[in-house]
Amino acid sequence: MKHLLKLQDLTREEILSILNLADQLKFERMHNIQKDYLKGKKLGMIFQKSSTRTRVSFEVGIYELGGYGLFLSSNDLQIGRGEPVQDTARVLSRYLDGIMIRTFAQQEVEDLAKYGSIPVINGLTDYAHPCQVLADLMTIREYKGSFRGLKMAFIGDGNNMANSLMVGAIKTGMSFAIACPNGYEPDAKLIEWAKANGEVTITTDVKEALKDADVVYTDVWASMGQEGERAARKKAFEGYQVNKENLSVAKSDVMCLHCLPAHRGEEITEEVFEEHAKEIFDEAENRLHAQKAVMVKLMGNG
Ligand code: CP
Ligand code: NVA
Repeated sequence: MKHLLKLQDLTREEILSILNLADQLKFERMHNIQKDYLKGKKLGMIFQKSSTRTRVSFEVGIYELGGYGLFLSSNDLQIGRGEPVQDTARVLSRYLDGIMIRTFAQQEVEDLAKYGSIPVINGLTDYAHPCQVLADLMTIREYKGSFRGLKMAFIGDGNNMANSLMVGAIKTGMSFAIACPNGYEPDAKLIEWAKANGEVTITTDVKEALKDADVVYTDVWASMGQEGERAARKKAFEGYQVNKENLSVAKSDVMCLHCLPAHRGEEITEEVFEEHAKEIFDEAENRLHAQKAVMVKLMGNG
C-alpha cells in the first residue's frame, strides 16, 4: 500500500491491518504511551474545502507521532491560482514525507499520487472519503465485535460517504443497503462492483433499507460544493430521515453513525442524534486513531 486514494485500492487484509494498528494506537494513547513512530516526518495538508475533524485529527495525529503537519489552504497555495497539480506534486515531494489532500475531483488526488513521489492520502473528494470510513469501521468493530453478517443501512444521498461506505462494508463482509431518491444513487460503477462482490440493496424505500439493520448511517443532503442545490435537495430528500419511527424496523441494538457535520431536522432528528451521541462522537474520535494508523503504514519505515 503506497497511498490511500480510495478504499477500492485496498485489500480486505490491508483494511483490517490498518484497523488493528488503529486499535493499538488508541490503546497506547489511552495509557499515555508515547512512541515517535514518525519522528521528524512532515505531512502537508492541502485543503480546498472546509474541515473541522479532518484538519484537527491529522494535525494532532502527526504531532503525536513525533512528526510535523503543515496546513496548506488552497487559497494561499499557487494551486489555487492555477499551478498544475502535476507540478505541485513534484515540488511538494521534495520537501515533505506525505500529503493529505481534501478537494473536489478525485482525479486531482490520483494525479497528485501519480506525479509525486511521496504517499498521498485522500481527506475527502466528491467521490470518496476513505479516512472517514476507516474510522467508521473501527467504531463498528468496537461496538459489534466483528463485521461478518452485519447489515449496514445508509439513508440519504448516494454521495462520497455512501460510495466509500458501500465499498468498506462489502470488503469487510457486511451487507449494504441504501435508501435514496431516484437520481441520487451512489456511483454506478461502484454499485456494479459491490453487487458482484457482496449483498447490496438500492431502494427508494427507507424502511426496506432499515429493516433489520445493525448499523445505520446518514449524511447531509447537500455536500460541500452543492450549496447552490440546497433548496432542491431539501425537497428531493424529504422523508429520507433517520428518525424514531423509521428506526423502529431496525434491530433493537442498532447503532447510528454520522460522519458530521449533522443537520438536525434534515437527515437525522435531534432525538435520534442525541440518543446515539456516544457512538457518533466515538466515531469522530476514531478519525484520529485510524488516520494515525494510515500515516504510520504509509510514512513509517516499515
Ligand atoms: N467528517 C469530516 O470529514 O468532517 P470535517 O469536514 O469536519 O473534516
Ligand atoms: N458528504 C459530505 C461529507 C462531509 C464530511 C460532504 O462532502 O460535504
